[in-house]
Amino acid sequence: MLKVDHITVEYDGRPVVEDFSLEMGNGEIVSLVGESGSGKTTVIRAILGLLPEGGEVSKGDILFEGRSLLGLNETELDAIRGRDITMIFQDSGAMIDPTSTIGSQFIEYVRTHEKIGKEEAYKKAAAMLAATRLPDADNVMHSYPFQLSGGMRQRVGIAMGMVFHPKLLLADEPTSALDVTTQAQIIRQMMDMYRMSKTSIIIVTHNLGVAAYMSDKILVMKNGRVVEQGDREAILHHPKNDYTIELLDAIPTMDGEIYV
Ligand SMILES: Nc1ncnc2c1ncn2[C@@H]1O[C@H](COP(=O)(O)OP(=O)(O)OP(=O)(O)O)[C@@H](O)[C@H]1O
Ligand SMILES: [Mg+2]
Repeated sequence: MLKVDHITVEYDGRPVVEDFSLEMGNGEIVSLVGESGSGKTTVIRAILGLLPEGGEVSKGDILFEGRSLLGLNETELDAIRGRDITMIFQDSGAMIDPTSTIGSQFIEYVRTHEKIGKEEAYKKAAAMLAATRLPDADNVMHSYPFQLSGGMRQRVGIAMGMVFHPKLLLADEPTSALDVTTQAQIIRQMMDMYRMSKTSIIIVTHNLGVAAYMSDKILVMKNGRVVEQGDREAILHHPKNDYTIELLDAIPTMDGEIYV
């Protein structure tokens, strides 16, 4: 489904991610873990073709369903982004426009990707909000972003990211701005949605506990390189790299079991 093949990503000619590779199948969940500045956001922005000004994939290739994403023009990318591949940002609250209601933004988002009427788009959006277990979807649709809590806004971001049942969801620290209880709830919701639609997910997180809870595969990054990768069990129970061991030691445990 996705094959990232030995990519180097540079900002203004300076490589920040080197020799990064990742292969994933349908319905798989991969976590990217690593300290601040290790290149996690850079990797997922590169996959989505959304690197900031000056950013460039200078080596390697990124294949989505066998097709190179690097060779596509903006129109071709736009057809994939938001539908087949979607992204939930570090702070979804910040990407929501404060001056219009959740409903009008959600409806517009749905209608840019699908030729349906407003009423149908409303129903689709409200159903998705309800699926994230937001208590009163109609009320949320009529609210302005500032009337919602951070956790509610983040759920709106997740609902938007999942509305088209994307094949690949890129989630950049979807919960890091939230308190631990809300984090756990939102991770559970993402898991529910994932089971519903068999979406493959790359989740970026500082928190190896979150990674442990939800992923099949874990990649540990440091200074722009993958220092260790493997199946969840192997990373959690037989880590080889010192940095991975350090991260594991930092996870709180309960009766010897890691919890989120
Ligand atoms: N727009 C940019 N221009 C130049 N350098 C950048 C830019 N964005 C990021 N970098 C650099 O690239 C490196 C990787 O940054 P990146 O944002 O990918 O890290 P990260 O792992 O997502 O960190 P965090 O956990 O803090 O979000 C850092 O050294 C950062 O300073
Ligand atoms: Mg980041």
